[in-house]
Amino acid sequence: MLKVTGLTKEFGGLRAVDDLSLEVKEGTIVGLIGPNGSGKSTVFNLISGFYRCDAGRIEFSGKDITGLPPHVIARMGLVRTFQQTRVFPEMTVFENLVVAPQDNVGEGFIDSLLFPRAVKEDQKKKGEEALALLRFADLYEKRDELAKNLPYGEQKRLELMRAVMTRPKIMLLDEPTAGVARPQVEKMREYILKLKDQGITFLIIEHHMKFVMGLSEWVYVLDHGQLIAQGTPSEVQKNPKVIEAYLGTGRMAAAV
Ligand SMILES: Nc1ncnc2c1ncn2[C@@H]1O[C@H](COP(=O)(O)OP(=O)(O)O)[C@@H](O)[C@H]1O
Ligand SMILES: [Mg+2]
Repeated sequence: MLKVTGLTKEFGGLRAVDDLSLEVKEGTIVGLIGPNGSGKSTVFNLISGFYRCDAGRIEFSGKDITGLPPHVIARMGLVRTFQQTRVFPEMTVFENLVVAPQDNVGEGFIDSLLFPRAVKEDQKKKGEEALALLRFADLYEKRDELAKNLPYGEQKRLELMRAVMTRPKIMLLDEPTAGVARPQVEKMREYILKLKDQGITFLIIEHHMKFVMGLSEWVYVLDHGQLIAQGTPSEVQKNPKVIEAYLGTGRMAAAV
């Protein structure tokens, strides 16, 4: 479903991503881990079109998407979430879902002048979809609350569901449990598995070792922009190079 070959990105003299190749098969959950600053978020920015790569090729569903802009890639079914949550704090939970992130405001405005009925129908359908999704995500009871008043774990979940509204084939999640309290981490895990059952493929960046190791079928490990290991979670946890990279960060200990 996703195939990255020889991906490279430099910032000034720094090689943030260095000749990286990886693959994500349809219907799987794949982890991308590595110490702080190892280039994980940059990889997501490259794949989703937010940054341009200096070298390499990105294929999604058999199509070359290298260099395409983010909204085009999103429309093809590849969406990402951000390390920093990006819900609209002053909107309600429901409103956050009906304002689909990939919508072009200009187009919507012209459409509403030219085809008012079609737009109205479209909005109605979107509203129904949003309510169904809120039920699925156990956020239905909170649909009229302002997003900023939700506990952080639920804001993260809302952000996840906002991305689901765009009907993605693959989701790139950048640290979905960062800052999330422990009971909510377990919830996040459940919803990701439920979405996987609905046919969504995942590539997940995580700091929370137990979480990512428990969910992923395959894990890639980055260090200083380079792929230092890949394998099943148990293989990766035993890999001396990985332990070395994490030494002193205390993160690996939490996984075993
Ligand atoms: N927009 C940018 N401009 C300059 N340097 C950047 C930029 N984005 C990331 N970097 C650098 O690239 C390296 C990798 O960062 P990042 O991809 O955020 O790592 P991670 O997500 O693994 O913590 C870091 O050294 C970071 O400072
Ligand atoms: Mg990051």
